[in-house]
Amino acid sequence: MKSLRLALLGCGTVGSEVVRLLHEQASDLTARIGAPVELAGIAVRRSGRDRGDLPVDPALFTTDALGLVKRDDVDVVVEVVGGIEPARTWLVEALKRGKSVVTANKALLAEDGGTLHDAATEGGADLYYEASVAGAIPLLRPLRESLHGDRITRVTGIVNGTTNFILSAMDATGAGFTEALEEATALGYAEADPTADVEGFDAAAKAAILASLAFHSRVSAADVYREGITEVTAADVASAKEMGCTIKLLCIASQIAGSVSVRVHPAMIPRSHPLASVGDAFNAVFVEAEAAGQLMFYGRGAGGAPTASAVLGDIVAVGRNRLAGVRAASESAYADLPIRPMGEA
Ligand code: HSE
Repeated sequence: MKSLRLALLGCGTVGSEVVRLLHEQASDLTARIGAPVELAGIAVRRSGRDRGDLPVDPALFTTDALGLVKRDDVDVVVEVVGGIEPARTWLVEALKRGKSVVTANKALLAEDGGTLHDAATEGGADLYYEASVAGAIPLLRPLRESLHGDRITRVTGIVNGTTNFILSAMDATGAGFTEALEEATALGYAEADPTADVEGFDAAAKAAILASLAFHSRVSAADVYREGITEVTAADVASAKEMGCTIKLLCIASQIAGSVSVRVHPAMIPRSHPLASVGDAFNAVFVEAEAAGQLMFYGRGAGGAPTASAVLGDIVAVGRNRLAGVRAASESAYADLPIRPMGEA
């Protein structure tokens, strides 16, 4: 039986978990895909780092990611590096060569997803990216497949765990933003430079991906109105409490009268709303569709193992497609809806 050969680009927190899961679940994956999965190579930034704890042949590591992507014996490229370049160059190269791509790269998808979708169409390849939004939560596949017969009207989500931890701590203890951020940093939720999270850039990228899928359009991060949580004070949280509300950083994407509006900002929500009880660093996304009604997706939105779980699910999907000789429908075939600027009715 011919193997499914993977090139893994990146071997940090998520990449190492992908390697571990591929090893631990090898026989299950073979059964689910219908072919064994093999690592053809692992591209890393620096060679020589001790990765002895990983169940993998050290000879697989290379610093030549582009060379690995171009190899004829690679069927699927799995990218967990992040950032715009050089990831875009690697993935476009892979897709144009007809290799399926599985990526967790929200920044690239939100800034230039169209280029990736066009390359996938040109190469007749699959592009899957479940891990790019809300980690382990199966969310993009339901939007892209299960709800395809329905009409989604609104997506409201808590898609950034760091800010949800901070706002939940402020709500629970009455702490100010700086104090809650310090706690998030001490516990390892917030990064050393928390700007992308607290200023809403991370949530805006995820909002763009969600809106593109929900509304069959091309929404980029630049189209998203964005406001972070740095200006939220302990007094704001206390007043919200008095009104029976809590403050959350929400992404809100809606489709009204043939145009799309996408925004990320702190918002007061009644404590009775399902999103109000999402605490800690969890993510949740509330979807409203004409026929399905209200749906809620909830779980861990970050971390090595949860994100790797989403990556593995995509590897199974693209592996099955390759074996069956089919590819997923391309979003680039969809009609673009106009984006409505904030403030326009
Ligand atoms: N920094 C992100 C968060 C990680 O806090 O949700 C997942 O994208």
